[in-house]
Amino acid sequence: MERKKITPVDIQAMKREGRKITMLTAYDYPMALLEDRAGIDIILVGDSLAMTVLGYENTLPVTMDEMIHHTKAVARGAKHALILGDMPFMSYNCSEREAILNAGRFMKEAGADAVKLEGGVSVKETVRAIVKAGIPVMGHIGLTPQTISMLGGFKVQGKDAKGAQKIIDDALQLEEAGAFSVLLEAVPAPIAKMVTERLSVPTIGIGAGVHCDGQVLVVHDMLGLFDRFTPKFAKRYINLSEPILKAFESYIDEVRSGAFPTDQHSFHIDEKELSKIEA
Ligand code: KIV
Repeated sequence: MERKKITPVDIQAMKREGRKITMLTAYDYPMALLEDRAGIDIILVGDSLAMTVLGYENTLPVTMDEMIHHTKAVARGAKHALILGDMPFMSYNCSEREAILNAGRFMKEAGADAVKLEGGVSVKETVRAIVKAGIPVMGHIGLTPQTISMLGGFKVQGKDAKGAQKIIDDALQLEEAGAFSVLLEAVPAPIAKMVTERLSVPTIGIGAGVHCDGQVLVVHDMLGLFDRFTPKFAKRYINLSEPILKAFESYIDEVRSGAFPTDQHSFHIDEKELSKIEA
C-alpha cells in the first residue's frame, strides 16, 4: 500500500495524539531507502555529514552546495518520511535574506520538506522570516555543534538554573517565531520534560531523556559506522564496521588467491562462436 508523505502538520498531530516521533539522519540514497522502508517519520540530512561522511573534524566546513547534493540523494530514496535539510554554518547567520534564499534552495533544488537551524533567541527573527516565506523550520537548541567554540566544547547544556532557564526561554521564543518543532540536544532530562510540557509544538530529543515527544540519532552512531567521537547518548544498535571490514578482507584475499571470481560470477560464450574467432 502506498504510504502518505509525512508533513510538519502530521508531526504536530503526533504530539497531540501522544504518538512518539522517530527521526534519524541519512546522507545518501541507500540509507534513505532503508529508513523509509522501516517506517521512520523524519529523515534529517544533518550537517553531521561533515564528520560522518566527509571526514572533517567538526560540522563547520560543510557548504550549502554539499548539503544540497546529499539532500537530493536522500529525497530520491525517501518517499514517505519528512525530509529535513540542516542549514549549515554561515548559511543563515549573516542576513535574513540570505537565510530565506538558502532555506529555499533546500526546498526548490533538493526536495526537502522543511529545514532545521541552530540557535534560540538569537535566531528567532530569522526563523520568523523563513516561516513567513512559507518554509517550515525546526529549531535546534541546547548543545549546538556549530557554535561549539562559544560553548567551550561538547558539553551538556542547562546544568544550572541560569542555563536551564535559557533553554526554556529559547524554546518558547522559537515556538512564538513559528517553528513547527524544537530539537533539544544534550539537555538534562528534567529540563527537556519541562520544555516538552510548556510547548504546544513537538520536541525531538538527542541526549535529552525519554520525555521528549520524539527522538533522533545520528545513523552512523547507531550502526557503529563512526567511532571517532561517540557521545554518551548515542546508543549503538549494531556494529556494522566489523562485518564490513571482514567482507573487505575476504574480497582482498579471494582476489589475490584467484578464488574470486568463480565460474558463477563470469559470463560465457557458445563454444561454436568461440571457435570462429581468430586468435
Ligand atoms: O546534524 C545532525 O546530525 C544533528 C543531530 C542533532 C541529529 O543535528
